[in-house]
Amino acid sequence: MKKLIVANWKMNGELSKINADLSYYAKLPETNKPNVVLALPYLYIVWAKQRLLMNSQIKIAAQDLSHYRNCGAYTGKINGSMLKDAGVDYVIIGHSERRTLMGENGAILIHKVRNAFESGLIPILCVGEPLSARDDGSYLQFIELQLSGLEDIESFKDIIIAYEPCWAIGTGKIASLVEIQEVIDFINRYMQKRFAYVKITLLYGGSVNSQNVGDILALENIGGVLVGGASLKVTDFTAICEKI
Ligand code: 13P
Repeated sequence: MKKLIVANWKMNGELSKINADLSYYAKLPETNKPNVVLALPYLYIVWAKQRLLMNSQIKIAAQDLSHYRNCGAYTGKINGSMLKDAGVDYVIIGHSERRTLMGENGAILIHKVRNAFESGLIPILCVGEPLSARDDGSYLQFIELQLSGLEDIESFKDIIIAYEPCWAIGTGKIASLVEIQEVIDFINRYMQKRFAYVKITLLYGGSVNSQNVGDILALENIGGVLVGGASLKVTDFTAICEKI
């Protein structure tokens, strides 16, 4: 199966960069390429979809969605149906930056996953432990707690779970292959036990680059990677995609 390479641009980019980068990606030959998903800031999504990626296989992810399902008086929010309208296929939910900087908790995130399912979007749910839980050995319990809310969702659908240890995000300090494999196997067992009837794809994220991506993707049960910093430069990101 083709690996999934998701670029999380976070709050980066301006129109000139989007134009330049996406025009470049759109011209790359599609054969033998991984499945590429670009998680762009909301404002650029329609532009990217309708102008730059019209004839491309590249898919778009949003970086978040509202936990409110229906339209209404929720100033500043964007819901799943709006994203679907804009041509979005995937949505990142529960990135550690949103959990820590914006105070998102498990209950909110479960609403978001449910809303993504109901809107026909595939959620990319991020889980991962802080350094303290890695150091004191409680990291698997920490991740299990993050996953546990999923059991409250009635109509479960295809989902992507990204393991992103907080201490490896933007630090250049990547988890070892043994550490990644242990957690991916743990998440895989957890999910297969409860949701074996849907398609579950597991990603790793945290300081992924063109040097380490080959080894990560060779691990068992890894369906792809979630790339932050190295997705912001066309040359770096193309080098990652070419390593597949
Ligand atoms: P870096 O690749 O910059 O470590 O970021 C990872 C990330 O947060 C992707 O969502």
